Amino acid sequence: MLTIENVTKRFGEIVALDRVSLSLARGEFFGLLGPNGAGKTTLMSLVAGLRAPDSGSISINGQRVGPNAMAPRHELGFVPQAIALYEELSAEENLRLFGKLYGLAGQELRARVDHGLHAAQLFERRQDKLHTYSGGMKRRINVVASILHRPALLLCDEPTVGVDPQSRNAIFEFLQRLNADGMTIVYSTHYMEEATRLCSRIAIIDHGRMLALGTLDELLTHLPFSELVRIARNDRTTAQMQALAEYGEITKAEDAYLFKLRDGLRFSAFFAAAEELGLPYRYFNIRRPTLEDLFLHLTGKNLRDT
Ligand SMILES: Nc1ncnc2c1ncn2[C@@H]1O[C@H](COP(=O)(O)OP(=O)(O)O)[C@@H](O)[C@H]1O
Ligand SMILES: [Mg+2]
Repeated sequence: MLTIENVTKRFGEIVALDRVSLSLARGEFFGLLGPNGAGKTTLMSLVAGLRAPDSGSISINGQRVGPNAMAPRHELGFVPQAIALYEELSAEENLRLFGKLYGLAGQELRARVDHGLHAAQLFERRQDKLHTYSGGMKRRINVVASILHRPALLLCDEPTVGVDPQSRNAIFEFLQRLNADGMTIVYSTHYMEEATRLCSRIAIIDHGRMLALGTLDELLTHLPFSELVRIARNDRTTAQMQALAEYGEITKAEDAYLFKLRDGLRFSAFFAAAEELGLPYRYFNIRRPTLEDLFLHLTGKNLRDT
């Protein structure tokens, strides 16, 4: 469906994308996860044909994409990071305008606009001017505006930034329904929770480089541990750290110790030792690693802080 081969894009000294390759099958819900400045928007603008790469190639359904190759564009929908709607028009008028730009008219245009307004859960408000909408409501209309022509491939560039939870859920459900009906979606975000919840495969990017790619489970196998134990940091645990270090590797985090079990050992042995030492279970917290842990492992920094 979408093939990106060895794409590099520079802005002066900045390498916004560094030899990125990627291949998407039809029907995927694909995540681009990375902090601000990672290159997500740049990649989407190249796929949308708004800019040309310095080197490498992009094709959609076998057809080369670029500023001089307009052909696959009605195959494509693009939800830009910045809202691109007219504040002085109603939601319905905005959608009719976008629908006409995509070549829709008459009965079909009306039906698609109405359907989109219902999907956005904003049909009742359709005649209100956009400037009376909350940020989250505008975002919902922004998504609808980009799918009126039923593109095979939809690019969503951080569509939920600054959005209230209700609108966020409405956007998620809407996109998941479109995907279930066969639309291929590329979704960029710096929220690992969104990538985890929505995406069948995820690429982690930072400083223009693709650092890892796969399903959530595949990605998490890059981590040197499969479970993470946090140990509360207090006088009692601090006094016993030496004894617990026999069972694994312990690192000091801000408010806790992080424990990684030594290969070949069992957690049961570790917890038995902790019990022997008189440390109550409530000091321990086991959790599955997350994409946040993976990002930290790959880059040495937190997704959130950047
Ligand atoms: N038009 C531009 N001119 C100069 N630098 C740009 C331009 N667009 C993006 N960049 C730079 O390229 C890098 C990637 O930016 P971007 O693709 O917007 O990242 P993201 O969307 O992941 O936050 C950043 O360092 C950014 O400053
Ligand atoms: Mg961006």
